[in-house]
Amino acid sequence: MSKGCLSAEEWLAEKRVLAGIMTGTSLDAIDVAVVEFFQENENQHRFKIIASDSYPYEFSVKQDILDLIHKETTIRKVTQMHYKLARVYAQSVKKLMQDNNIDFDSLDAIGIHGQTVWHEPGVETDTRMTFQIGAISSLAQLLNTTVVGNFREADTALGGQGAPLIPIFDYEFLGTETDDIIALNIGGISNITLLPAGSSMDNIKAFDVGPGNVLIDAAMRVLYNKAFDDNGDVAAKGEIIPGLLEFLQQNEFIYAEPPKSTGREMFGLPLIHKILNDFAQQNLARDIIHTLSYFTAWCIVHNIKLFGNPKSDIIVSGGGSHNKFILSVIQNELPDSRIRISDEIGIPADTKEAISFAYLAYRTLGGLPGNIPSVTGASHPTILGLVARI
Ligand SMILES: Nc1ncnc2c1ncn2[C@@H]1O[C@H](COP(=O)(O)OP(=O)(O)O)[C@@H](O)[C@H]1O
Ligand SMILES: [Mg+2]
Repeated sequence: MSKGCLSAEEWLAEKRVLAGIMTGTSLDAIDVAVVEFFQENENQHRFKIIASDSYPYEFSVKQDILDLIHKETTIRKVTQMHYKLARVYAQSVKKLMQDNNIDFDSLDAIGIHGQTVWHEPGVETDTRMTFQIGAISSLAQLLNTTVVGNFREADTALGGQGAPLIPIFDYEFLGTETDDIIALNIGGISNITLLPAGSSMDNIKAFDVGPGNVLIDAAMRVLYNKAFDDNGDVAAKGEIIPGLLEFLQQNEFIYAEPPKSTGREMFGLPLIHKILNDFAQQNLARDIIHTLSYFTAWCIVHNIKLFGNPKSDIIVSGGGSHNKFILSVIQNELPDSRIRISDEIGIPADTKEAISFAYLAYRTLGGLPGNIPSVTGASHPTILGLVARI
């Protein structure tokens, strides 16, 4: 019998090893983690990271996905990518396991986010949609293990935004009785989880605050032919372009009350094309990167000021944690906060979301809900995901 057929009680009774796979809006890499989870007391979970790494998306795959999102496409092309990604994901998991001498038989299951090709949270339930591709049954066969995927759909079915889903991980593993914590993830999009000291699950808020690296990356590609601004070095040399900053700050999403979530649909290529069209000729390239990076940090700061405690302990993850310019703006604007990269508390910043999706799959197979209604807007907590068995 496959281990995925265990009852929820049987599943939670022993230590479980899960792989988590995350591919976010940046389309930079496939983040993979292998993590051991166990339940200490009733619903008290612990984890140990066995290995984690990121494997860059091949350029052509990245380009094909961007085309699905931004260009007129065909159902055939979407379907093709759905199956192709299963093979790409399987290779990444295999590589991580082989490189770290992890026995394939030790793997109990996989949790996979998939690649978002459309995310439109919508105001009404019937305009709310989110779509992740990557064929989970194929992945289950390729890796010979149970795979849990399509996590977001169950939450949108309950009127939620289907996002963010990482907060349950933050609540379980980052919250404390004594300190106000903010988990900040700077991926393609930036999001925060507010964990006031000693808060119950119903009191936590988590939401997207605006762009993460998505605008900076797109401008770096056009202006410098580079994938990203390493370290934030280009931004650090530039100056603010007031007209551009004012234009960006008009975006209503930044000020909207949570729950809220966003994606490339709002902060994607069309916006960058408009910005470059309006500002690139009269301004220095480094000033554009500076202003976009400042704006990215400002969205984070502004949302913390509006909805959180500016004196919190901020734990940063995601690729943007490598951008020193962004972190320095946040520290300057929130002088009483303490900013740490999540590595400092034992969670690799680049694979935190992959670790979280392994945890979400652990919860699904243990019959535990994965969404937090106060965060997503869903009518009630539910067991997330679809399960593909071998
Ligand atoms: N050394 C670095 N310096 C600055 N930015 C970086 C660095 N490494 C990664 N990044 C940024 O992080 C992004 C990837 O972040 P990630 O958390 O993987 O986002 P997503 O979840 O959207 O894929 C890259 O596209 C890049 O902009
Ligand atoms: Mg990524």
